[in-house]
Amino acid sequence: MADAAAVDTVTSVPVAIVGAGPAGLMLAHLLGRAGIESIAIDTRTRHEIETTQRAGILEADVARDLVETGVSDRILRDGDEHEGIELRFGGRPYRIDFKELVGESVWLYPQTDVFIDLAAARDRDGGTVHFGVRDTEVLDVTSEQPRVRYTAPDGTRHEIRARYVVGADGSRSMCRGLVPEDRRVRYTKEYPFAWFGIMTEAPASAPELVYACSEHGFALISQRTETVQRMYFQCDPDEPVDAWSDDRIWATLQARVAGEDGFRLTEGPIFEKTVLRFRSFVQEPMRWGSMVLAGDAAHTVPPTGARGLNLALHDVKVLADVLLRALGGEGAGALEDYQSRALQRVWRAQNFSYWMTRLLHTAPGGTPFDFRRQLGELDNVVGTRAGRGYLAEQYTGWPTRTSA
Ligand code: DHB
Repeated sequence: MADAAAVDTVTSVPVAIVGAGPAGLMLAHLLGRAGIESIAIDTRTRHEIETTQRAGILEADVARDLVETGVSDRILRDGDEHEGIELRFGGRPYRIDFKELVGESVWLYPQTDVFIDLAAARDRDGGTVHFGVRDTEVLDVTSEQPRVRYTAPDGTRHEIRARYVVGADGSRSMCRGLVPEDRRVRYTKEYPFAWFGIMTEAPASAPELVYACSEHGFALISQRTETVQRMYFQCDPDEPVDAWSDDRIWATLQARVAGEDGFRLTEGPIFEKTVLRFRSFVQEPMRWGSMVLAGDAAHTVPPTGARGLNLALHDVKVLADVLLRALGGEGAGALEDYQSRALQRVWRAQNFSYWMTRLLHTAPGGTPFDFRRQLGELDNVVGTRAGRGYLAEQYTGWPTRTSA
């Protein structure tokens, strides 16, 4: 049993959440609305999370949930609704009109802003979140009294006693390692490229996102504000950031979007440069005893198509529903539903992210046949209504199954 002498405080709550990124905080918010208390902890400081650039596209359903569940309506003022994207290849632009094809849109609203809104909502609603903790331990997950221990930034040691522990601790999750090795399966796919991401101070180069495929590789032209833009280009996973001067970056980006229409990016000073590695990953099961995994802790996708955050927020929507039932008298049996309801979307998103990545990137060592075939596939996507409809439907997301 708990050795309470080893800690400075012991707190009991129904749900302990390891990881206070968007998934952990959205779960805390949804539980809090239903009167269920939780404590969320994170090894990162609030400032660190707020200033780490992540993806920027939200499905309309996710945007609606942020507003309708009372997180914040800031997205309606500061976000941008996009009714389509542009694909560029062979030097030509092709618009995919989501609204016309599937009656949907997406929102450009950076993940950092989603986090800022969720953290502010926790403050406003009196939720407990501890940032900057260390030495996190999750204990007794196969019992009905799991515990989480951590050291606060001031060096004091704390214990949370909960009925359920949620591992929302991201792509380098410690929680997922609590499922014994011989009882878990990890499905992984590595890619022979990464993204070089930049932030630049410049006006937008295009009204919507531009996904470009050229024989030199992929580029994505995204946005942040009227004066700040986010762009990415495909690079080697071991590319040293320092090898890239601003001039070299702009030359690379311009070459990848160049075309017969004379399209040019508006250049400006670059104030952030990062190489972002990625992979496809799923761990099953998503539940072990009294512990449940959500978001990147259970699955990651390559960034093309911006599924990651959307998927994480869908996980916690299903998880909140299941936890409320479990705590509301149904017992742990209610958790049985979680994985099957979450996984269908997870594998759909895995397929879409893999498909869109392969559609737009050039594989190192590819032959002229490979590139010609790829142009043929792109032509099939933009040149048929079924192709455009498929992309539009997948990019804008699938409805959540909130009931079993
Ligand atoms: C962004 C990132 C993505 O991976 C994507 O597909 C679209 C946009 C972004 O950071 O803005």
